[in-house]
Amino acid sequence: MKAVIVEQYAPIDQIGLKDIAVPVVTPGQLRIRVQAASVGFVDGLKVEGRYQTRDPLPFTPGAEFAGVIDEVAPDVQGFAPGMRVMGAARSGALAEYIVVPPDAVEIMPDGLQPEAGAAFRTNYLTALYALSERGSLRAGEQLLVLGAAGGTGIAAIQVGKLLGARVIAAASTEDKRKFAASFGADAVIDYSRSDWRDTLKELTGGHGADVIFDPVGGEISVQAFRSIAWNGRHLVVGFASGSIPALPFNLPLLKGGLLIGVDVAQIARREPLAQARVMAQLSAWLNGGNLTPVVGKVFALADFREAFKTMQTRAALGKMVVRIG
Ligand SMILES: NC(=O)c1ccc[n+]([C@@H]2O[C@H](COP(=O)([O-])OP(=O)(O)OC[C@H]3O[C@@H](n4cnc5c(N)ncnc54)[C@H](OP(=O)(O)O)[C@@H]3O)[C@@H](O)[C@H]2O)c1
Repeated sequence: MKAVIVEQYAPIDQIGLKDIAVPVVTPGQLRIRVQAASVGFVDGLKVEGRYQTRDPLPFTPGAEFAGVIDEVAPDVQGFAPGMRVMGAARSGALAEYIVVPPDAVEIMPDGLQPEAGAAFRTNYLTALYALSERGSLRAGEQLLVLGAAGGTGIAAIQVGKLLGARVIAAASTEDKRKFAASFGADAVIDYSRSDWRDTLKELTGGHGADVIFDPVGGEISVQAFRSIAWNGRHLVVGFASGSIPALPFNLPLLKGGLLIGVDVAQIARREPLAQARVMAQLSAWLNGGNLTPVVGKVFALADFREAFKTMQTRAALGKMVVRIG
């Protein structure tokens, strides 16, 4: 089968597509013929060996996928060849086949395209866990989404709307702001302008943001916290800007605001009930047709490097997806 293979941690230009053996199904596992895999910010860090934990070499990058079950180990119940599934693994998705345990996948709702299935799990789990379980976002509150046209940002807009919030989307270009508005943002802000906090103040009638969804980091984060409402919650999701900000400790005191960390990588172990609640709600929205995962751009497997580069150069709108097979 064809698979992207990382033999040395390196920039994506130095990573190749190889022919390797189809992975064998071992007890407790199932094999999926991958139809689509998405590329996230973390995948780019892993390829370069810059993520918190390194995948042992050689490895195939790609964590999220959708496809059709091809073989099931005899000891696995509830799954059969031919079922359409979507899921997430630590790595291995940018390949024609992947072998995973059954708890890594769920059945794809009828009518959902593989590209959308591959763009679902991480971003929407992050958005709903952050906004609901960590941020206690309530209907009628004002939600500020930073990096709003990115993968997690666009998910936070959709989820924020489903939770009944008024969503203000902040992004750096006109195209990105239009993209954010097209997925439900009530108002948009150009946060590359020095006066963007004045616009936020006007848009919230002087109230500030009740909840801030922040996958960006850097100076923007500190500025955003300065515009938080009393009893507001600033959700620390990521540092796409490459810079980890330092928040002066007087600000939470003066603003009566909370700084709250979000790490979905830990919730299966630390908060399994919260994860189950969030996944159940997301599945209900998906199956009810209330939520469709946003696919940004779709690339052929041979062009996988372009998917990474689009994301790494801040050019991505939504999630980058690679079509396989
Ligand atoms: N905590 C968690 O559980 C969790 C889960 C998923 C992802 N994350 C993290 O969240 C962050 C964002 O992930 P994502 O998938 O939303 O990424 P993404 O699709 O690349 O979007 C990130 C956004 O950040 C903004 N940005 C500002 N400076 C940037 C820069 N120098 N390079 C690239 N983007 C920049 C961009 O918007 P503008 O151009 O509009 O500024 C971009 O749209 C990453 O750090 C990721 O690791 C965390």
